Amino acid sequence: ATQPASPGPAPAEANTILLGEVGSLTGAQATFGVSTRNGIELAIKEANEAGGVKGKKLAVRVYDDQGKPEEAAQAVTRLITQDKVVLILGEVASSNSLAMAEKAQAAGVPMITPSSTNPSVTQKGEYIFRVCFIDPFQGFVMAKFARENLKATQVAILQDNKSAYSIGLKDVFTQKFAEMGGKVVTTESYSQGDTDFRAQLTAIKKTKPQAIYVPGYYNDVGIIARQARELGLTVPLMGGDGWDSEKLFELAGNALDGSYFSNHYSPENPDEKVQKFIRDYKAAYGGVPDALAALGYDAAKVAIAALERSKDLSGPSVRDAIAETKDFPGVAGNITLDKNRNAVKSAAILQIADGKTKFVTTIAP
Ligand code: PHE
Repeated sequence: ATQPASPGPAPAEANTILLGEVGSLTGAQATFGVSTRNGIELAIKEANEAGGVKGKKLAVRVYDDQGKPEEAAQAVTRLITQDKVVLILGEVASSNSLAMAEKAQAAGVPMITPSSTNPSVTQKGEYIFRVCFIDPFQGFVMAKFARENLKATQVAILQDNKSAYSIGLKDVFTQKFAEMGGKVVTTESYSQGDTDFRAQLTAIKKTKPQAIYVPGYYNDVGIIARQARELGLTVPLMGGDGWDSEKLFELAGNALDGSYFSNHYSPENPDEKVQKFIRDYKAAYGGVPDALAALGYDAAKVAIAALERSKDLSGPSVRDAIAETKDFPGVAGNITLDKNRNAVKSAAILQIADGKTKFVTTIAP
């Protein structure tokens, strides 16, 4: 991340408020960064068309971290020391947000992650916020769904042991599922970027699970699903928000039909502001927005509203204004930030059929 991915204005330009963004615009999880970028851009465009903030236009300096925590941390340092941004938006993957939060907190520059769900991200300090739910809730949701809707008592887990997100979800699921009378029969591990999961899947098959929880990212999950079916594992797979990408279906083909995952938003929500967002997004970028796009849009909107309210553009003032966010009508649900700077929101369960997702149910906190 040595060069900004978008040039933007010079930092000292008087009539501009400069925000920073860090995301995986390239690399293994590129759809995360690209969707988030689109959502943020749409929100900024709307705000500028409505006259900007405090009589100034908004601009965003964007860095591509290629999905790597070290690059993400370095990009934040540049945004703070060189570009002098007033706040930072990003990242998606929790491991990358953790690396960023460290730096933003130390410098007293507010950071809002749209979509990182691992609890430790906002625990980095009072300058770090998120507009999504956290994994103790997301893991509970899937345990409840497995137990009550799928009536499963025996579930196997395949976790990514290089991802704070995956490990966190595995821990919560294991604990909650046991509390509900279920049992995790085995937990197998891989490292993101692996391409052969057959040894782990063979071990899982021997334990005869009724479902397999795979809390990973789409690029790995797509391959895992195919190999599971090839080995004759026909039970449903279950996952979390990390599955959300249209690329999942390119990789998995039909291997995920009948599987389920938890997510932040469903494009089937009939709410008019959600449908308007989908129309505007399609017109600008040509596809149906995924949860990353929705949360990127919401994070930018929350940031813009806070800048509007803030008594000045200093770190402490902007921080205080963000912390006051209450009942903000996001396209991925209403946002009220709690004292731990997390949003408390419902999760959607989606089922996969014919390479598409279908809304099943909403689970409230
Ligand atoms: N919640 C994931 C993480 O913390 C990121 C993610 C969010 C991925 C939403 C897809 C959709 O790592």
